[in-house]
Amino acid sequence: MEPAIPPIESDAERDKLEIAIDDCVRRFYAKGAEDPLLAPIFATIDGLDQHMGIVTNFWSRTLLGTERYQGQPFAAHINLPIEPQHFTRWLELFSESANEALPKMQAEQAIAKAAHMTQCFQSGLFPFVDADGKPSRAPAQ
Ligand code: HEM
Repeated sequence: MEPAIPPIESDAERDKLEIAIDDCVRRFYAKGAEDPLLAPIFATIDGLDQHMGIVTNFWSRTLLGTERYQGQPFAAHINLPIEPQHFTRWLELFSESANEALPKMQAEQAIAKAAHMTQCFQSGLFPFVDADGKPSRAPAQ
């Protein structure tokens, strides 16, 4: 269950949070670029600044209820060469970034949302189990 968050009424508070979200996203991609598991995948992103802008809009929508993000996040991941271990690392680095950049309440909300989405993405991408019982894109042979 994602924690409920009271609406932020003051423009100054919202502006501060937008800056913190931008900081969180930049920290996350800086960590990703240094990470042996995730860096090769992030390196394929065409136009990193534009991509970070899209992801910032996603978190602005999640944390502030703006309508700047209108995409389909799952679809963007279907053809990526990702496996369950990438999600574990992704969530670790995202959680670090959120805890460093966001106020505590919004960090908790963002991490809960990210954790839920990593579960949903994995259920969609790996609907089968392989011969060793691990999540898999294809049925066991
Ligand atoms: C294994 C973990 C993940 C990896 C390696 C990964 C990597 C990527 C990459 C490479 C893209 C760009 C795809 C493209 O433009 O073609 C992307 C897009 C995106 N990702 Fe992830 N991602 C992961 C998990 C997640 C999770 C858990 C979330 C949500 C909390 C998320 C949110 C997004 C969003 C919002 C976009 C932009 C989609 C759009 O263009 O509308 N990602 N991701």
